[in-house]
Amino acid sequence: MTAPPESQTGARVQRLPLARFTTLGVGGEAEVWFVATHEQLAEAMSAPYRILGGGSNLVIADEGVPERVIRLSGPLAERDLTPDPDLSEGDALVTGWVGGGVPLPGLVRALQKLGLGNLEGTVGIPAQVGGAVWMNAGTRYGEMFDGLHTLEIATPDGLQVLSPDDLRWGYRNSGIPRGHIVTRVRLKLQRSTPEEVLAKMTLADTARKGQPKMKTPGCAFKNPGGVGAGRLIDEAGLKGTRVGGALIAPEHANFIVNLGGATAGDVHALLDLIRQRVGVPLELEYELWPGGAQGQAASTSTSRPWAVERQ
Ligand code: FAD
Ligand code: EPU
Repeated sequence: MTAPPESQTGARVQRLPLARFTTLGVGGEAEVWFVATHEQLAEAMSAPYRILGGGSNLVIADEGVPERVIRLSGPLAERDLTPDPDLSEGDALVTGWVGGGVPLPGLVRALQKLGLGNLEGTVGIPAQVGGAVWMNAGTRYGEMFDGLHTLEIATPDGLQVLSPDDLRWGYRNSGIPRGHIVTRVRLKLQRSTPEEVLAKMTLADTARKGQPKMKTPGCAFKNPGGVGAGRLIDEAGLKGTRVGGALIAPEHANFIVNLGGATAGDVHALLDLIRQRVGVPLELEYELWPGGAQGQAASTSTSRPWAVERQ
């Protein structure tokens, strides 16, 4: 095994098993770059890379991945919820920068306590802000783009600062190209009361009561429109089907859970079975690392100084 390289900019670089960074608990080793500054991120992006958020939508191969895996940390995983006086007006509040590496559940809880609405529908999604923005994660009660004002995105050609209107976003899709990294966002929130925000969150939370509580990467397939993927898989009689340590959850057929000791191959076998048995084409919601049609294309870039917007 080769030792991880030294970072020139002070990023922490370690070879680590990726399973521990995922909600499924599956995945072999890779070189993980913990980047805390834009300079460190530019260096990390100077060779083929992938970006890892909360690992809540990933099925990673037992062999790991050959590219470096970038994880946002330090200031890129911190939040400044102070209203920006130049951008906020009346009940419409725009925050300071919220790092892409910030855990979404803690952010949503903090917003509830402050009585700030717009992201209530994302309660219970175990993502990081950057991953949730990239996917436009949400529920029928609301999604990430309901609460976004500005996005800062690192691309192989430098930093971009965008408004949501610059992107073609929709259901489970932000329109941000694969390999572009959501470094920070400013949130657009509605002043309300903690009680009202909690009431909306409770609605969204109640809708997930039937979801399994075991290790899982969430729903396997996007809803194709009309009848949901869960219902289609259920009607195909697949609930409770097991391959190795992976199981199609008896509680909800669009969830595959790890009973303990599941491999990525077990999950792939169940996904193949579902595709064969359900009569409608289903689009995968997970990312399969390293490959398959949904795998993330590794990008290359040259390290260059970036113009960083002042905080
Ligand atoms: P990861 O799983 O780490 O990565 C997923 C993709 O995002 C990868 O392509 C990765 O490269 C990319 N990515 C990660 N961080 C960044 C970044 N900073 N910039 C750019 N790209 C990035 N999803 C829903 O939409 N609604 C739900 O109700 C929901 N419920 C869930 C419940 C459970 C129990 C679980 C386990 C998952 C659920 N999910 C749900 C799925 C998952 O939480 C979302 O897809 C989420 O957006 C994944 O974010 P992440 O940070 O975990 O990303
Ligand atoms: N259903 C079945 N059998 C099943 C599962 C569901 O018949 O095994 C039926 C339910 O009875 C219900 C319908 O299908 O009538 C819809 O089910 P549910 O309310 O559970 O919603 P869903 O469409 O399956 C979506 C999201 C979830 C999100 C919930 C709650 C997708 C793919 N899934 O699930 O998101 O948490 O709504 O809002 O859009 C995710 O994306 O990872 C995810 C978990």
